[in-house]
Amino acid sequence: MIVLGIESTAHTFGVGIAEKKNGKGRIIANVKDSYRTMQGGIIPNELANHHIEICDSVIKEALEKASVNLSDIDAVAVSQGPGMGHALRIGMIAARTLAIKLNKPLIGVNHCVAHLEIGRLLTKAKDPVMLYASGANTQIIAFEGGRYRIFGETLDMGIGNFLDTLAREMSLGFPGGPKIDELAKKGKRYITTPYVIKGMDFGFGGILTHLKKKLREGHSKEDIAYSTQETVFAMLIEASERAMAHCQKKELLLGGGVACNRRLQEMAGTMCRERKSEFYVPENEFLVDNGAMIAWLGLVKYRSASAKGTKEEFSPERIAIRPYERTEEVEVYWRD
Ligand code: ATP
Ligand code: FE2
Repeated sequence: MIVLGIESTAHTFGVGIAEKKNGKGRIIANVKDSYRTMQGGIIPNELANHHIEICDSVIKEALEKASVNLSDIDAVAVSQGPGMGHALRIGMIAARTLAIKLNKPLIGVNHCVAHLEIGRLLTKAKDPVMLYASGANTQIIAFEGGRYRIFGETLDMGIGNFLDTLAREMSLGFPGGPKIDELAKKGKRYITTPYVIKGMDFGFGGILTHLKKKLREGHSKEDIAYSTQETVFAMLIEASERAMAHCQKKELLLGGGVACNRRLQEMAGTMCRERKSEFYVPENEFLVDNGAMIAWLGLVKYRSASAKGTKEEFSPERIAIRPYERTEEVEVYWRD
């Protein structure tokens, strides 16, 4: 079976192609084009125009990379949410049009759950706690009681948006996460920074205000970047460790763009070693938003629904965007 998946929850328009043959799943294409701004954040109308302009070429390139024709596609998958309405609608129109034209099923997929499932495909993780750290989302997710449940999450902004905003204050441009990552390596002095964990949840807004003040006071960007990473990553790892202890799970999986950060990976690795647990992180192209994870989860859902006779709707006319869908709302019928 071959599934083409479209990701379009935010700045990235991604198209991936997943295949299952002889009982083995694999990704045969993963192409994307991301909207960027020279300064400032996303302008929703511009974002929609970007996705409209490039959607055809990204789909074509993915088909070429996978060496398949449109007629080889057995189903189309699309990210329904959570995400920005302006972006989601373009992905949905493209996916629906393709499915109707090909007369194939359309499978709606939750973006956060897709981050986790692609990690299970590409690493040896079987039943992990996932630390999902991206631009708009920061959640600690694990499979319990038949669903993916959130054991800890941000109380305000996503950690990526926090890093991007801090970088903007430092005139570093967007995306700021990688730039702070580089600067942090040159930091020498730890500047005392608030450590904000409430129960299992965490917040970044107050820390941002504090760091802006430190910047105005003349502390070096390197020291601020270093202190930022040491503090906020420790918060995420602390909550992840407690989720692992609570759920009695022995695997940690990273997902989301911020998981590309080597220091975060290093801290996660140390924590897992100390707990005698396994630590997994897929390659960067599958950490950031991507179409491959949508295609893969679409394939898994469709095959499971067909085998079990689950009532999920796969008709292109009925699948709609779900901008506010939460991870735990998804019925996970494909796992035992
Ligand atoms: P979401 O998954 O919530 O829809 P998104 O589309 O913004 O969010 P991703 O593509 O997963 O997210 O990740 C983008 C984020 O990752 C940006 O905020 C960027 O700054 C951050 N990022 C990328 N590389 C690094 C790095 N090396 N260190 C820290 N942050 C990074
Ligand atoms: Fe994402």
